[in-house]
Amino acid sequence: MVKYVVKKGRVFWPSKAMKKIAWANSEKIYKEASESPAKFWAKAANELFWFKKWHKTYEQSRLRPWNFRWFVGGKTNACYNALDIHLPEKANQTALIWIPEPEKEPDQNYTYEELHELVCKAANMLKSIGVRRGDIVTIYLPMIPELIISMLACARIGAIHSVVFSAFSSQALKTRLLDNRSRFLITADGYYRRGKLIKLKEPAEQGARGTAVEKIIVVNRARRKIRLKNNEFWWHLLMEEQPLSCPAEELDSNSVMFLLYTSGTTGKPKGIIHELGGYMVHAYLTAKLVFDLHENDVMFCTADIGWITGHSYACYGPLFNGITSIIYEGSPDWPSWKRFFSILEKYNVTVFYTAPTLIRMMVANRLERLLARFKFEKLRILGSVGEPIDEETWLWFFRHVGKSRCPIVDTWWQTEGGGVLISSLPGIGPFIPGVAGRSFPGVNHLVLDEGGRPVSVGKEGYLVQASPFAPGMLSGVWRNSKLYREKYWSQYHKYYFSGDGAYMLKGKLFRITGRVDDVIKVAGHRLSTAEIENAINKHPLVVESAVVAKLDKIKGNVPVAFVVVNKKKKNIEQDIIGLVAKEIGPIAKPHIVYVVPDLPKTRSGKIMRRVLRALMLNETVGDVSTLVNPEVIGQIERIVKV
Ligand code: WT7
Repeated sequence: MVKYVVKKGRVFWPSKAMKKIAWANSEKIYKEASESPAKFWAKAANELFWFKKWHKTYEQSRLRPWNFRWFVGGKTNACYNALDIHLPEKANQTALIWIPEPEKEPDQNYTYEELHELVCKAANMLKSIGVRRGDIVTIYLPMIPELIISMLACARIGAIHSVVFSAFSSQALKTRLLDNRSRFLITADGYYRRGKLIKLKEPAEQGARGTAVEKIIVVNRARRKIRLKNNEFWWHLLMEEQPLSCPAEELDSNSVMFLLYTSGTTGKPKGIIHELGGYMVHAYLTAKLVFDLHENDVMFCTADIGWITGHSYACYGPLFNGITSIIYEGSPDWPSWKRFFSILEKYNVTVFYTAPTLIRMMVANRLERLLARFKFEKLRILGSVGEPIDEETWLWFFRHVGKSRCPIVDTWWQTEGGGVLISSLPGIGPFIPGVAGRSFPGVNHLVLDEGGRPVSVGKEGYLVQASPFAPGMLSGVWRNSKLYREKYWSQYHKYYFSGDGAYMLKGKLFRITGRVDDVIKVAGHRLSTAEIENAINKHPLVVESAVVAKLDKIKGNVPVAFVVVNKKKKNIEQDIIGLVAKEIGPIAKPHIVYVVPDLPKTRSGKIMRRVLRALMLNETVGDVSTLVNPEVIGQIERIVKV
């Protein structure tokens, strides 16, 4: 195996100015945190508001290490910490800026006071339709302020929010609703994307059919004139009647704050559970230190709030820190990239957090000249998340967006982690293209081999987290404790298994190489090959299928499907692609569908995806002595070559 060495001249350090203002600017923070992680996190928790202080900072079962809890006995409220605590001093500061996609629609600014008022009203609205503490509210909304308002309203009254990405299909919504059994759904009539009106009410209604959903609130974002049924309510009409104040409930630190479904190796998405106290402290502190947030900072996190990045760094993290968060409804290249960059310039964005796939789009579109026209004077920090960022893309981002003066924090984490777990800190560094950095203070990662032994420096292995587990870590999988133990704790028992490969480099720096399981990251979106296969297998003519990831210049990875059919039909490939879009969403569509006579299988019936991957890439297939049907190799080879 090749050893990874950082190239000379490719290590960047913080400037003097950055060091001076940064919250974290010396080794001391790592040292203190590792000496007593519990003390370190407790100090951060003390910067927030608690109705009642916790009596135990961290507790973990010795025999069952996956049972751990943070801030036990504490009582708090995430909405109170996002809004109310800022009111005495920052009532008139902007909390949220929303930019609609159509340019003729004005941007909307909300001060902390305004957002607080809207959230209180929305919380009362939820109560008025019967939502109580502990109830699950599913939110299927595009990037509009009501999405953030709904989440905070839930948090205020102790309802559990379960946000579903609005570009997921009605079927994907249904799968989640059947699992979380929520009785309440919040959606919109539609939204704008790439100049088009996208209807949302219809898929929402379809997804809710046959589930436990009793009531649906509809935001009239697209001003469509549609009729609602008896159990459906217009957001704006309900809001009109609501009182302006609503107390924030005193909630248990270990109560469930939200669920977020994510794809794993099984055919069904799993509901990741995040508990209030731990998540809140983790999101707060990582936002503060990784993006070095200070008063007057303006953060633009481009992730959709339907994913964890949006939860933690477009909604909660910036608000816990009392700064301004920007959200944008549309696509970055619509109507033009100029529009997108103008947002950064116009609002004096100081922290820009985005995904490698978006940067690769900029590179492919040769936006250097356009970018040269922007100064981004206030920009201080750039962030990357979602998939590994290659060196060239990193350097391009640094040069053309960061004007060679803003450090890039390459943040590694997962839906399960709730907040950043590995990254460099702006005032400490180092910033190395292709290397994420160190474990966040108070968190400890290792790289192990198959047998659980640490690999030597510079070698690749499996990335795990050691105890004490970070506060933002999931506390379980909704209604599936078995899956929780199996997926994360069965490989190494006392370590949390991330599902990623990594190198540990000198100085405990990590270079992440990506998923080692059947999860694929398509343009930063997390998808499961098993889920895509399930969707394909629903086609009446499909006998079986296998989906593998293919490298893509822009999207990182794209799914490619190999299918066996029992009858030939013209354009079946298109049928299958359409079916995946319907079952999951357009992001999951296979880029290529190969109809093949059979799939390479072992004697025990296991599909050898490794062989398919090699054939697709025109590489040698390696050892195939375990195959029962070696003749398929030649057959598939011919099909793939066409
Ligand atoms: C997977 C988790 C965490 C927010 C967004 C994704 C990959 C994430 C990085 C990074 C290399 C990364 C991993 C991880 N990933 N960040 N900086 N470098 N890979 O959350 O959708 O749960 O996906 O994203 O493979 O396991 P997610």
